Formats: sequence, structure tokens, C-alpha cells
Amino acid sequence: MTLHIVGAGGFGRETLDAVRRSAAPQHDVIFVDEHPRAARVDGCEVLEPGRVDREGNQHEFVVAIADPLARRRLAELFTHRGLRPATVVDPRAVVSGGARIGPGCVLLGQAFVSTGTVLGAHVHVNYHASIGHDTVLEDFVTILPGANIAGSVTVAAGSTVGSNAAVLQGRRIGPAATVGAAALVTRDVSGGQLVVGVPARPR
Ligand SMILES: CC(C)(COP(=O)(O)OP(=O)(O)OC[C@H]1O[C@@H](n2cnc3c(N)ncnc32)[C@H](O)[C@@H]1OP(=O)(O)O)[C@@H](O)C(=O)NCCC(=O)NCCS
Repeated sequence: MTLHIVGAGGFGRETLDAVRRSAAPQHDVIFVDEHPRAARVDGCEVLEPGRVDREGNQHEFVVAIADPLARRRLAELFTHRGLRPATVVDPRAVVSGGARIGPGCVLLGQAFVSTGTVLGAHVHVNYHASIGHDTVLEDFVTILPGANIAGSVTVAAGSTVGSNAAVLQGRRIGPAATVGAAALVTRDVSGGQLVVGVPARPR
């Protein structure tokens, strides 16, 4: 079994760290990158996407790219090629047994995911981010380091919540929205909107 980490940048290397810490049977890991800067990164080979097809016995992938649109495009590409999405959870993350984690998710160390939460497909929860009880993160959501999403929040598909932002309980963030770093979301955010500041306002 070979795990393909798509994206050999910073988040890709952090994802590799999480895989290497995992107690699960070790995968062989290779990076896949559309613009490789080196033949090897952190001890792993880097392939361009076109070369993945020709490799045998390679079954799983995870897209380690923060941008939701790029992540969706690459997830569709590799799913179409017959690879299965893997889920990577750093063993130092705290994940409730009452949480549901979808395929292709990456949860880094010190992420906290509470009970009753539902994470869709290809969601990223970075280190020190916390996801409150009964919150829903739809497909391709990115939660950046240290963000605090309270209970019963919905973050719709393809949205990004920036570092150290806080989203108050019960709020809804529409699809493809962006919450700036350190913002405090006190009201619902419309789809496609960018909000910043304390309290968060459209920019
Ligand atoms: C809000 C954000 C999306 C804006 O990105 P951008 O459009 O490229 O913004 P720029 O850097 O060009 O800054 C434009 C203006 O917005 C301000 N600004 C940028 N981010 C801001 C934020 N989070 N809160 C308040 N103001 C912000 C800048 O000071 C600048 O103001 P000025 O024109 O008065 O100087 C981005 O700054 C951000 O916060 N992204 C989250 C990123 C993150 O958490 N990264 C962690 C990675 S691990």
C-alpha cells in the first residue's frame, strides 16, 4: 500500500509527520506535486501527477493543499484515477468517539474534535484548532491553526477559517467563504464572503 500525499509543500510535510507518527501499519509514502521543486522531500520521492498512473500497487491519496478549490480539483482527479482517499489523523489529535470523520480528512496534532461533530470529505483541521460539539464541517473545509469553532456551528463546503479566528456557537458560514486570521464571527457569514476583524465584518 502506498499513500500519495498530494502537495509537497509545508502542509504536505506536516501531513507526512502525522502519518509517520501514526500507530497504524506504516505506509510507503510518496509525494505528488504539480510543480515539484525537488526529486525527494523529507526522504520521500516526489512524482508529478502524470506519473502516478504508471505506478502499480498504489491505492491511497490525501490532498495536503490548504486552498479548497485546488484540493477539490485534485481530489476529483485522483478519485477519477481509481485511488481511494485516505484519512490522516495525527495520534496527538484528540478526536471524540462521537465524531464522524469523512474520507480524505487531515487532522494534525493537538487538533480537538468534540462529540457529535461531522466532518465531510477532504476537510483539514490544523494543529491547535478546536471543533465544538455538534458542529458540521462540510466537504473541503479548511480550519487553520488555532482556530476555535464553537458548538453547533455549520461551516459550509469549501470555506476557510483563518488562524486563531473564533466562530461563536450556532453560527453558519456559507459555502466558499473566508474568515480572516484572528477574526471573531458573531453573525452568520454569507457564501463567498470574506470577513475580518473583531467582531468580523465583510471586507
Ligand atoms: C483576510 C485575508 C484572507 C486577506 O488576504 P489578502 O486579501 O491577501 O490581504 P492582504 O494581505 O493583501 O491585506 C489587505 C488588507 O487587509 C488587512 N488584513 C489582512 N488580513 C487581515 C485580517 N486577518 N484581519 C484584519 N485585517 C486584515 C491588511 O492589513 C491590509 O490592510 P491595509 O490595506 O490597510 O494595509 C488573509 O490576510 C487572512 O487572514 N487569511 C487567513 C490566513 C491564515 O490564517 N493563515 C495561516 C496559515 S497557517
